[in-house]
Amino acid sequence: MSLDPDPPAELVPSERATGPGGGDMDPEAFRDAAHRVVDLLADYLASVEGRAVFPPIEPGSIAPRFPAAPPERGEPLDAILADVERLIIPNLTHWQHPGFFAYFSTTASGPGILGELLTAGLGQNPMLWRTSPVGTELEGVVVDWLRQALGLPDTFDGLITDTASTSSLTALAAAREAAGLDVAARGLSGRDFDAPRVYASEQAHSSIEKACMTLGLGRASVVKIPTDVDYEMDVVALERAIADDRAAGRTPVAIVATIGTTSSTAVDPVDAIAPIAERERLWLHVDAAYAGPVALIPERRAAFAGWERADSIVFNPHKWLFVPFDASVLLTRRMDALHRAFSLHPEYLRTLDRTSPVRDYNEYQPQLGRRFRALKLWIHLRWFGLEGLRRRIDRHIDMAQAFASWIDDAPDWERLAPVPFSTVCFRWDPGGLGGAELDARNTAIMDAVNRTGEVFLSHTRLANRFTIRLSVGNLRTEPRHVERAWRLLRDAAAAA
Ligand SMILES: Cc1ncc(COP(=O)(O)O)c(C=O)c1O
Repeated sequence: MSLDPDPPAELVPSERATGPGGGDMDPEAFRDAAHRVVDLLADYLASVEGRAVFPPIEPGSIAPRFPAAPPERGEPLDAILADVERLIIPNLTHWQHPGFFAYFSTTASGPGILGELLTAGLGQNPMLWRTSPVGTELEGVVVDWLRQALGLPDTFDGLITDTASTSSLTALAAAREAAGLDVAARGLSGRDFDAPRVYASEQAHSSIEKACMTLGLGRASVVKIPTDVDYEMDVVALERAIADDRAAGRTPVAIVATIGTTSSTAVDPVDAIAPIAERERLWLHVDAAYAGPVALIPERRAAFAGWERADSIVFNPHKWLFVPFDASVLLTRRMDALHRAFSLHPEYLRTLDRTSPVRDYNEYQPQLGRRFRALKLWIHLRWFGLEGLRRRIDRHIDMAQAFASWIDDAPDWERLAPVPFSTVCFRWDPGGLGGAELDARNTAIMDAVNRTGEVFLSHTRLANRFTIRLSVGNLRTEPRHVERAWRLLRDAAAAA
């Protein structure tokens, strides 16, 4: 019997570009299609400012516009790309928009997008050195470039993950091993140590709690340390909490300090926390997911004092370093502890390099398969250069500081937190209103501004006050966009 069945009498449209063998898209057809996709993206990036940052779409209104069942026969690329323009692009929230001031921005830079394209096309999986020799070694190079750029000592090694959530989970799993709990081997159930404890400020990101939920430590293990008026961790309260736990026979494991909290970008005093971690022999993890890139600028490193004493640090190039989502970097002085937490050698991974000392990154993190994220980082860093990145981050800080000064100078507006980086927390407060009424008016102002589609602001609660946040971090944002946000806010307040 022949392995090649007779070609079907009529090829389906997609196979006209493939041939009847059922293989991949023909390389020439791919070349043509890829050019069209790049054209589409270039047009999108050129026009993104003219779109509403988030279009007025009702939840559940998109899925019914797609076929409920998958296509039985392949479809021509023309039809697929037409649907990208018809169904995908109009239903996006435009993170690439210069008026995106919500949450923390993530920009996909041009060089980063090209890096993503190459990453997909080269089809690497640097789970073992052998499965992607350059994927593995370039990751080491890029992590070390970033370490140097941040001004950290060469005792820090590290790896690239998808998100800060994964980086922090990985760090806390290592902290659990470093605390001698031997959970990787023996698990937690029926063990004779009492109540592991992880200390983080009440302003720490929810990913810390989620990591503890996932690692079996439980939400109960997270001790939320109070913060001061500037939302920075109260170090005296931290020391007291650790002492109380030790006295009660509990098992302190780690301290998580945040440089740039999610709500207000507060900076926990790491230089005061590090000696406590050292004295108490606790793992110190620093969450600098958003603010980390500011340390590229030597004159702005004061906020990072003491972070070189941490056991691990996370920062996200996909936030304020403009690398396309996803890219998080976990730096650590304790790769050995990560290895203890995650190393396994199943037989099917021992085909090659059984004896030579290679780095297999899968042994330092929860999952086996990994993306070749170092490639886009390498391209991105080379294209911008550290000088180019510093200049852009500096401009963002300047824009946020200008916005903060307008708030400070306006009698009916109030700033609700310090602005150490590029995020401003504020509200409208004409006096005479309070509590729920003032919250409702500020909600209405924010909603009205967002409905214009020109900018996107998000909110938080600080000291139980509805707080509007404006966070500058998009590569396309210029002073005129921040000025426009301020105009829209004042107009909405006048109408409130
Ligand atoms: C301080 C901080 N840590 C962690 C995270 C989680 O980041 P990711 O989405 O990469 O998991 C965020 C997200 O905004 C954050 O602000």
